[in-house]
Amino acid sequence: MEGDSKMISPVLEYLERLHSKIADQLEGEVATYIPELARADKSHFGICLATIDGQLYEAGDTLKPFTIQSISKPFSYATALADHGYANVCQKVGVELSGDAFNAVSLDPKTGRPANPMINAGAIASTALMLGDTPAAKLVYMMAAYSKYAGCPLTIDEAVYISERDTGFRNHAIAFMLRNFGILEDDPVAMVDLYFRQCSVLIDCRDLAVMAATLAAGGNNPLTGIRALDEEHVASVQSVMGSCGIYDYAGEWTYSVGLPSKSGVSGGILAVLPGYLGIGVYSPLLDARGNSVRGIEVCKELSKYFGLHMFNVPHSTRAVVHRSYSGREVSSNRQRTAEEIEHLSLPSKRIRIYELQGELVFGTAEVVMRDILSIEDSLDYIILDMERVTGLNSIAYENYAERMR
Ligand code: DON
Repeated sequence: MEGDSKMISPVLEYLERLHSKIADQLEGEVATYIPELARADKSHFGICLATIDGQLYEAGDTLKPFTIQSISKPFSYATALADHGYANVCQKVGVELSGDAFNAVSLDPKTGRPANPMINAGAIASTALMLGDTPAAKLVYMMAAYSKYAGCPLTIDEAVYISERDTGFRNHAIAFMLRNFGILEDDPVAMVDLYFRQCSVLIDCRDLAVMAATLAAGGNNPLTGIRALDEEHVASVQSVMGSCGIYDYAGEWTYSVGLPSKSGVSGGILAVLPGYLGIGVYSPLLDARGNSVRGIEVCKELSKYFGLHMFNVPHSTRAVVHRSYSGREVSSNRQRTAEEIEHLSLPSKRIRIYELQGELVFGTAEVVMRDILSIEDSLDYIILDMERVTGLNSIAYENYAERMR
């Protein structure tokens, strides 16, 4: 590659391209069953990708606030697992698909146990497990737990909370049923109220991506370095997201996107590629199943383009840079022409060689691209030695081979 013009990250370039390709699509409807959500601006659309070492790539409206809604569910479940352990939590919430809508009063007829923590019944049961002697103490505890995932303090949208509380009769009914079976041990009114507040936590697209990246990084927030969740529970949370996170679209989602994910009715989608990155997308226009239309499209495109499907990505963590050095460090026995010698000895010819190895896929290629971009200004040539590369998927090929011309 000749360094005559500043390169922008190919990841960012692609996100911007994808954003403008999809921005004009205005299919779908904003949620109206919670009156306050109907006020959402249909044009808002943001995409953010966060790597497990804290690199953010953003396109569009990534700082527009919206309420977390059902995307809170895996994080309350995670908090419950961390505080009570799987055996205890499992007494109150299962891990099976319900096959019902998210707000169905779907409890085991004998035990009253909700099928999984991604439906409202299971979510209310998880929320009630927040530590604290009073609902107010539980709320403080919950906000602190969520903030660890996002890496910044979070607040509640009071208007959405009041709107949910005053219209969420079905959720009230679920909470009373849970109390009837002893799944809830506290006052059902207070616990469903806590759930309404939980759904009304304000986040933006960047927070979503960081929360996802925290799961991808095994529970450690990549921006703050603070541990949000013990590694032993991360796989459990991602498992329920993988099977139940997108409700009755879960099968096709796993097939075509292949990332544990969670959607919410305000239009957010969070997706995790374990060990590599988190994705946050926000667009409030929903399809008939209550998933963001543009959010689904973005996740499908990202997964296909970058080869992110979790059953496709090699789980090798081996560093892909075998060696990297400057042209001055290389001596050669090769006979050069006078012209070549003159060309190479020009002081402006700054050369860097990367000897790559192993599997070049999105996760490994992105790290090397970032290193190249950070020094690219001071280089005239970058040489990629692929001799030790054992595999190269199409996106890595595009990023390396074609762009390095
Ligand atoms: O329980 C409710 O109605 C909402 N507060 C949360 C709904 C939600 O996001 C459902 N999932 N997509």
